[in-house]
Amino acid sequence: CQPWPGLIEAYREYLPVSTTTPIVTLLEGNTPLIPSFTLAERIGRQVSVYIKYDGLNPTGSFKDRGMTMAISKAKEEGAKAVICASTGNTSAAAAAYARRGGMRPFVVIPDGYVALGKLAQALLYGAEVIAIRGNFDQALGVVRQMADNYPITLVNSLNPYRLEGQKTGAFEVVDVLGNAPDWLCIPMGNAGNITAYWMGFCQYFQAGKCDRLPKMMGFQAAGAAPLVNGQPVTKPETIATAIRIGNPASWGKAVAAKDASQGSFHAVTDAEILNAYQILASEEGIFCEPASASSVAGLLKMKDEIPTGATVVCILTGHGLKDPEMAMKHGNSQFQKGVEMKVEVVAKAMGF
Ligand code: F0G
Repeated sequence: CQPWPGLIEAYREYLPVSTTTPIVTLLEGNTPLIPSFTLAERIGRQVSVYIKYDGLNPTGSFKDRGMTMAISKAKEEGAKAVICASTGNTSAAAAAYARRGGMRPFVVIPDGYVALGKLAQALLYGAEVIAIRGNFDQALGVVRQMADNYPITLVNSLNPYRLEGQKTGAFEVVDVLGNAPDWLCIPMGNAGNITAYWMGFCQYFQAGKCDRLPKMMGFQAAGAAPLVNGQPVTKPETIATAIRIGNPASWGKAVAAKDASQGSFHAVTDAEILNAYQILASEEGIFCEPASASSVAGLLKMKDEIPTGATVVCILTGHGLKDPEMAMKHGNSQFQKGVEMKVEVVAKAMGF
């Protein structure tokens, strides 16, 4: 059994790297595809449900897949600094990989709307963090102009190498299942990841690694659902801050993926997202951040439309520890504080 070499080495033949590309890696990828019996039971009809737990990447989100590629290519091109706008996870991944590659990471975030764990990561990895009085879409506008006018490389998903790296998530799903699933449920924010997964499935299909393509089922938070409504949202709002985005950069590509795959886009409310978030943690032992749970919220919402015997994969994009405040607020369990340290008292508190 060979040790996992990181996704660029593992999928080198499918990626735009050469023997001279300096590979900046934290051995990301190879995340587990976990069967979900609770969800399968809720749907019934012999449907198989798998969770692609991409929160288990080195910085806790799927962004590492894109960042190993973007930073390796930036290094190859001699970049000294990189920049991104972010709702949090991209900033953490950019910071970690840029520092590992010896570059300066600059990140622009919407002030007050980045989960605590993500901000803590960016700061500790050594990013230069600028919180603007504006939302993600406005932050993206700023960094695009910065990259156009200053010697700094953009590492948002507009950077084509990001999507190249992220498409490996689809390869891993097919490698484990032996084929593509019938449905792929995925959260959508800036719409890069759905675009990347579709690229990956199509490329593997052409290489003969699978003989079917999944329906791409994209889900957005109801307060930030431009792709569902068909028009930009000027003031996006949702508790799922990772996908609090009103004007996705990969809009056209995401719609093309949906259409080509005969998939569809739907909105899920914050209440539905929180319900899925709690089910995943308390019934499956899988802790993801709220934005990630939108793929499962979407699956539950669409459950009557899943064909009997189908195989469904839900992408869980980020780890639950990214957003500890949300977990503290929405945990199901009882939490009794200040209990006297006597066995009888503790036993009573436990209901014995
Ligand atoms: N899930 C999580 C946990 C995310 O952080 C993001 C995006 C998405 C889903 C949506 O993916 O943008 O490719 O459609 N986060 C970006 C960031 C915007 O800055 O971290 P997408």
